Amino acid sequence: MSFKNIHPRKGTRSVKWDLIKSIYGSEDVLPMWVADMDFQTPQPVIDALVERSKHGIFGYTITDSEINTSIINWLNKKHDWQINKSWLLYSPGVVSTLHMAVQALTEPGDSILIQTPVYPPFYGLVKNHDRKLVTNPLKLINNRYEIDFIDLEKKMQQGVKAFILCNPHNPAGRVWTEQELTKMAELSLKYNVKLFSDEIHSDLVYSNHIHIPIGSLSQEINEQTITCMSPTKTFNLAGLQASFAVIPNESDRNSIKNLFNNQGFHMLNTMGVTALESAYQFGEPWLEDLLSVLEENRDLVTRSFKTRPEITIVEPEGTYLVWMDCREMRLSNKELKEFMASKARVGLNDGLSFGEEGEGFMRMNIACPKVILEEGINRIITALDNLK
Ligand SMILES: Cc1ncc(COP(=O)(O)O)c(C=O)c1O
Repeated sequence: MSFKNIHPRKGTRSVKWDLIKSIYGSEDVLPMWVADMDFQTPQPVIDALVERSKHGIFGYTITDSEINTSIINWLNKKHDWQINKSWLLYSPGVVSTLHMAVQALTEPGDSILIQTPVYPPFYGLVKNHDRKLVTNPLKLINNRYEIDFIDLEKKMQQGVKAFILCNPHNPAGRVWTEQELTKMAELSLKYNVKLFSDEIHSDLVYSNHIHIPIGSLSQEINEQTITCMSPTKTFNLAGLQASFAVIPNESDRNSIKNLFNNQGFHMLNTMGVTALESAYQFGEPWLEDLLSVLEENRDLVTRSFKTRPEITIVEPEGTYLVWMDCREMRLSNKELKEFMASKARVGLNDGLSFGEEGEGFMRMNIACPKVILEEGINRIITALDNLK
């Protein structure tokens, strides 16, 4: 498997590539937006899917003890987290689980806290269910996002029912440290706030940073946490829709499970189960290679904009999503979007969609072969030169 090869994705019903014209107004826009990768999944996963396809029967499928074991071993090995198989709950996606958790464990009118700017669906998780949105804006200090703990405690004191944590954080790129996680856990325990921890990016962490599942800090916090994880970001399997949650609290787990069941969701799709198992069993060497490629890509982006005062890269500690501070360009949000799509011809995510704190920022997906990334960077730099 080479991370250098370009695998054309147009015509594969790819959200990222096939919606480019309808979103950005032209086919001649390089897609560097939605969070999937332009790399093929590990060969053992492809082989397992081909093998499973050859069987030709795709009936209702169970998540048996071998599937559980592949997850248990992965979490143990990669995150030093020992979980019990009875804590696992399968779901088609992390966002689905979060929607269910909000509905099962909070009531209309309850306050739910998020740390902004943040992954846009977090807003819908709160507002679509008539819960009250409470934000704990992150502070950008010396080009690194930090948590305002004084504000966090103040908000929790005022009565927050649940806190949707994003770790590693999209789009801030922070991999929260043990110290930060401990403080967040202590506050959640002190004010009896349920933690819905979205850890979908947990395997995508760069050198000198480690991902710590917040539930692994203590039994007490684990009992109060719904941890959502998935192999889909790590191994580029988002279209197969297979994820899981770790929920030690039996009553919480059953409430969420019942809600899923009552919507008719009670199993994963056959190919998702196959991919999940083979990725966790055999995908680790590929992941190590991926991380070194992503780290080179991250460094390339950072280096390329070092000499450009208009754009500052907020260097990520994890995730393949790069948050670009474009405020020095002094453009309105509309003008900035227009600049990137029409002048630079790159399809980035609009910072404002992550919340008002994202105004003046753009998010770039760097999970692509280096030549594509270079093309995207060059397009932006040429467009910046043409502005002068
Ligand atoms: C923080 C975060 N959570 C969840 C998701 C999507 O998860 P799923 O496809 O499992 O619903 C994404 C995708 O970009 C993400 O960045």
